[in-house]
Amino acid sequence: MRKNILILKGNIIYTKTPEEFTVCEHSYLVCRDGSVDGIYRTLPFRLGGNPIRDFGDCLIIPGLTDLHVHAPQYPLRGFGMDQELLDWLEANIFPEEARYEDMDYAGRAYGIFAENLKRSATTRACVFATVHRPATMKLMDLLEQTGLETFVGKVNMDRNCPGYICEETQESLDETEDWLRDVAGRNYQHTRPVLTPRFIPACSDALMEGLKKIQAESHLPVQSHLSENPQEAAWVAELCPDAEFYGDAYDRSGLFGGADCLTIMAHCVYSDDREIARMKEKGVFIAHCPESNMNLSSGIAPVRRYLDEGMRIGLGSDVAGGSTENLFRAMSFAVQASKMRWRLTDQTEAPLTAEEVFYMASKGGGAFFGKAGSFENGYDFDAVVLDDSRLKSPRPLDIRSRLERMIYLADEREIRAKFVKGQEISL
Ligand code: GUN
Ligand code: FE
Repeated sequence: MRKNILILKGNIIYTKTPEEFTVCEHSYLVCRDGSVDGIYRTLPFRLGGNPIRDFGDCLIIPGLTDLHVHAPQYPLRGFGMDQELLDWLEANIFPEEARYEDMDYAGRAYGIFAENLKRSATTRACVFATVHRPATMKLMDLLEQTGLETFVGKVNMDRNCPGYICEETQESLDETEDWLRDVAGRNYQHTRPVLTPRFIPACSDALMEGLKKIQAESHLPVQSHLSENPQEAAWVAELCPDAEFYGDAYDRSGLFGGADCLTIMAHCVYSDDREIARMKEKGVFIAHCPESNMNLSSGIAPVRRYLDEGMRIGLGSDVAGGSTENLFRAMSFAVQASKMRWRLTDQTEAPLTAEEVFYMASKGGGAFFGKAGSFENGYDFDAVVLDDSRLKSPRPLDIRSRLERMIYLADEREIRAKFVKGQEISL
């Protein structure tokens, strides 16, 4: 039994709720068979004899979940940021994604993405690929090798996009089924498929219906985009005159949450009362992507309301709408964006706190994977060790202040060690 126990020592900090940090200074974090099995100030006698990884004065936090990221857009970080969503997709994103037909390019680009994600504080991610099946398999192979837990989606799109990246409806469905067969043959331990209709403007009703058939048989989860940008939302209203609201267009195809259809919708900046009520009813996860929403002039999502209503919500980098896979930056952007919303739009919605953004990046998004993103007993043992000694301070700081500072200043240089389900990731 002993070989299945792992003990980390350091300053442990995490959020059980969005309201507060739980802090355990100079304590032992015990992992048994890949799950959290207690935090102790003094190690119980029965655990004596097990090796201890002593990380001194480092911080130990739960691994973070990136609930929305586009792997093929990684080479475009920081490009085309003078444009709004729809123009940016057309001018920058679609031409870049078309390159993934070339497996040499895909191998190089996805290799860089997987390597950098491995070195970040992210332990879990929900990832968009492109329409290309072989390149999507390459991405899944590379992510599997990192040891991170991921959902990866071959993108479906059959309308309103340039011919060089647009699929025929039946071709899109056939390729999806072939892709799922390829995945089943791989026997991945950490990498799972997720159905990925790009967004309503790029997916015909027939495609959505076909995807629902696949979903009903496979019980796979779904990820897409929702109510991101005013132009996009107006376009959906034109394309789907019968839908009551944007999210209803997904729901009509049966791809909008519910017991058997775990769903992530990225953005939800312009969700109205009806859309919010439907998301709540169906348990849809919201991926809040604050940096992307600023870069693409989309707006600021009403996250205070989502939290107050107890909705399922995590953070997404949305690379390359967002410029970095670093989820600490997503946390600080979320605080900053909420302050601008409070100042400029609605003084009744209090800005977000450090606790709240940390919660969303850890337990909030981790919930999509089950019990992940917290150090409560029984949670998957995903832990990141942060060495913040590079950032000198003229006075001692408490643990909460040190984490708060990390939210604004940490990058991969602070990551000392990382564990997923109790397995150490080689950095
Ligand atoms: N909506 C449809 N496709 C995309 C994309 O690639 N990025 C973002 N931010 N929004 C989208
Ligand atoms: Fe996106």
